[in-house]
Amino acid sequence: MKKTRRDFLIYIVGSSFTSVAIGYLFPKASQSREVDIETLCSLFPQNSRCQNYLPGVEALDIKGKAIQTNTLLATAQPGIPIPVKGLPNDKVDYLIIKDGPAIAEYGIRPICTHLGCTVEWNQQKNHFICPCHGSQYDSQGRVVHGPAVRSLPLITVVVKQNQVRLVDSKPAIDPR
Ligand code: FES
Repeated sequence: MKKTRRDFLIYIVGSSFTSVAIGYLFPKASQSREVDIETLCSLFPQNSRCQNYLPGVEALDIKGKAIQTNTLLATAQPGIPIPVKGLPNDKVDYLIIKDGPAIAEYGIRPICTHLGCTVEWNQQKNHFICPCHGSQYDSQGRVVHGPAVRSLPLITVVVKQNQVRLVDSKPAIDPR
């Protein structure tokens, strides 16, 4: 059957629309194969290609040594946050230890939500305390004393292959 000029135009417009839609839905997919896997595994973690995929960066203890999940959980206590490094910032982040003990799927970024000072975990008071104006947060980063009114920000934590991986993005849902 003979193609008309109209068919050709419909084909061109349809192809362009499809490309734009894919670029919009998967903006990282076109950048590299590595990012393509990252996008795939963040959307579909059960996909067979994601079995050996390790997201983010490996969590390090405060001395800079890689953390092994089984070693950490042998001594971790529920409700006592564990300081970790690894993400590209100057701050220490904190793992949250749940009952079990188990490592929560989210961690604490210790940036005070009042005016941005760095909070630290105070073991005696069992709170994160801000040195600037005294805000306090519980072990999950929820405000217990102002002037801050919002919980501490979160990062995503993935436990896989006996590693703890830190992902520099907040979880899809704040579990607190
Ligand atoms: Fe933390 Fe003001 S910056 S209480």
